[in-house]
Amino acid sequence: MKKRLVIGMSGASGAPLTIELLKQLQQYKEIIETHLIVTKGAEMTLEQETDYTLEQLYALADEVHDNHNIGAGPASGSYRTMGMIVIPCSMKTLAGIVSGYSDNLVLRAADVTLKERRKLVLVTREAPLGTVHLRNMYEASQLGAVIIPPVLSYYNHPKTIEDCNRHIVGKILDQFELEGQEFHRWMEK
Ligand SMILES: Cc1cc2nc3c(=O)[nH]c(=O)nc-3n(C[C@H](O)[C@H](O)[C@H](O)COP(=O)(O)O)c2cc1C
Repeated sequence: MKKRLVIGMSGASGAPLTIELLKQLQQYKEIIETHLIVTKGAEMTLEQETDYTLEQLYALADEVHDNHNIGAGPASGSYRTMGMIVIPCSMKTLAGIVSGYSDNLVLRAADVTLKERRKLVLVTREAPLGTVHLRNMYEASQLGAVIIPPVLSYYNHPKTIEDCNRHIVGKILDQFELEGQEFHRWMEK
């Protein structure tokens, strides 16, 4: 049986990162099934930040779940998954996760991921970060989530924004012991 990986996309800036992640996960198609959930906010950033239509985004995932469908598979702990990535993770979705206010499927799936002690990666994005945001990230980390803001690295000598996106996605995939494409590690060729 393929392993399921839940991808939540919320309305923070960074829609190209979701696309890059879904594209890279296709190299693991034989072993991993991607389950995508997109918030209304993310639909807006997708339109603002990329040339992708919603349908083109959906086509990159194996399964798509309606964010209002709180009866979908990822809403239950008995639905086995290898974990969840919220990419990008808005400050609103972060607040929902930290408080356990699970009124949509992204939030419910994240809540389930935490309660089942599975890996939850939050690609939290805002700048500058307010005290509430920092407090919520700290609390999410204490609850067991891994916080990977989409920050730039320079040691890999990026030349394009795609290089930057690939590096961030490589860091995220590392959390699941998956290898990113063209991911340049420190002190490794
Ligand atoms: C173009 C655009 C960029 C945004 N960027 C951010 C951001 O970087 N971080 C953030 O927390 N919210 C950002 N927002 C605001 C969120 O989309 C908004 O708070 C929304 O209610 C989040 O809901 P969701 O988490 O359910 O998607 C942005 C909104 C738009 C339209």
